[in-house]
Amino acid sequence: MELLPWLLGFVVKYPEIMASAACFLLLFCRFRRRSKRIPTNWPVVGALPAIVANAGRVHDWVTEFLRAAAMSHVVEGPWGSPGDVLITADPANVAHMFTANFGNYPKGEEFAAMFDVLGGGIFNADGESWSFQRRKAHALLSDARFRAAVAASTSRKLGGGLVPLLDGVAASGAAVDLQDVFMRLTFDLTAMFVFGVDPGCLAADFPTVPFAAAMDDAEEVLFYRHVAPVPWLRLQSYLKIGHYKKMAKAREVLDASIAELIALRRERKAADANATGDADLLTAYLACQDEIGMDGAAFDAFLRDTTLNLMVAGRDTTSSALTWFFWLLSNHPGVEARILAELRAHPPSPTGAELKRLVYLHAALSESLRLYPPVPFEHKAAARPDTLPSGAAVGPTRRVIVSLYSMGRMEAVWGKGCEEFRPERWLTPAGRFRHERSCKFAAFNVGPRTCLGRDLAFAQMKAVVAAVVPRFRVAAAAAPPRPKPSIILHMRDGLKVKVHRRQED
Ligand code: HEM
Repeated sequence: MELLPWLLGFVVKYPEIMASAACFLLLFCRFRRRSKRIPTNWPVVGALPAIVANAGRVHDWVTEFLRAAAMSHVVEGPWGSPGDVLITADPANVAHMFTANFGNYPKGEEFAAMFDVLGGGIFNADGESWSFQRRKAHALLSDARFRAAVAASTSRKLGGGLVPLLDGVAASGAAVDLQDVFMRLTFDLTAMFVFGVDPGCLAADFPTVPFAAAMDDAEEVLFYRHVAPVPWLRLQSYLKIGHYKKMAKAREVLDASIAELIALRRERKAADANATGDADLLTAYLACQDEIGMDGAAFDAFLRDTTLNLMVAGRDTTSSALTWFFWLLSNHPGVEARILAELRAHPPSPTGAELKRLVYLHAALSESLRLYPPVPFEHKAAARPDTLPSGAAVGPTRRVIVSLYSMGRMEAVWGKGCEEFRPERWLTPAGRFRHERSCKFAAFNVGPRTCLGRDLAFAQMKAVVAAVVPRFRVAAAAAPPRPKPSIILHMRDGLKVKVHRRQED
């Protein structure tokens, strides 16, 4: 009862406090009026509260707010941030940046500094260096002898490594982490075509391979650099602690492992100068040193950067794609049955020639990649100020992040039911693959920078499915695994599965 006179007295005594409270309430109401899903850019702290609250589910959070924000939204950092970020899943923006205006959207210095571990390799390169590396890598990766050698070595590794390993798991009845199995498999397969050696990461005792562990550590730091405040990263680097230290150690291991593999390859070449059997990429790069035009330490650095970039390109992407695919398959028995029937009709040989005929499997893999793209987001920065088709201005102080994960889940792009796993959406009524669908599909990037390993990746994934599905049934929990906040779409807690031999079903 005495509250009113007390309040009036307070207002008269402290008008400035009341004025501040009124301003805060006004601002609060103004920002709250927007869709609850769209993150608010608050004064001073920017979108930091929403970023912190959603850090553990970043890809799904971004998808939710992009749906509510017509596929693009600007996220501001706290005061002192170098600039804000436009997050988009709009295919028109993607076509503009990745294809029509490709020249204005280089990777840039900021990207190269963030991904410094990749050195001057193709992922970091721009301009002439990128064009040269791309031409060279394209020629080597599409060489018929190289492709035949990869098909043969993949077939040997699956028959002699993966199948016996899964057989043992099935016999023991124990659960296994399929994500770990696929990471080990693709590490070995990629090292085999990059360096010409099998590091044996997939052995039955699941050994720790320092090279593979260092790649995991480096990737963890790379993601951390995307989310941690810049002053904190600078302090860690000044004091040589935390993530800075982790990256330094990982680099040491990577450099030493790669130097050893290069030395091994050179020794083998010197011992048998006429050897023609080696079809790995390192041998091919060593053979064209004159064309590359480098020698001594510069050539060694080129080889280190090139082979590491190829290892990163091949290992994580393919293992991520396989893990999500097998989880989807275990929860879609109808799709699994159709794949099994197709594999029985066209059993693949070691040359891999029949893999092209597996159209339904191609559709199912594409559908899985749409929902779970192994590279979930990409950076772009405009060299000169520009306006995107969505109307957003971008430039030196406004970078762009394209969410490939969200792009595959936009109703505006894929129509109703876009969250369903339905391989049929990739097929014509006559059962042919609908290539035109691929233009809405950015899992392999689009435009001049599109993935150079797409065909190789499809061939390897099909070979794995053809080796596993007719022999084993993989059973996983139905609940969707949570994506790990990472630069690659791994599962946060791995994929625990039980493996059953098919004839015992
Ligand atoms: C399912 C498997 C794969 C997926 C989803 C995938 C996806 C991608 C994406 C999104 C990019 C663009 C990255 C960027 O611009 O930063 C890319 C680039 C690239 N990929 Fe793949 N990739 C896969 C497998 C492979 C394999 C097996 C190789 C073989 C070594 C490979 C080689 C490359 C190379 C060399 C580039 C750089 C192209 C350039 O910058 O011009 N990829 N890939």
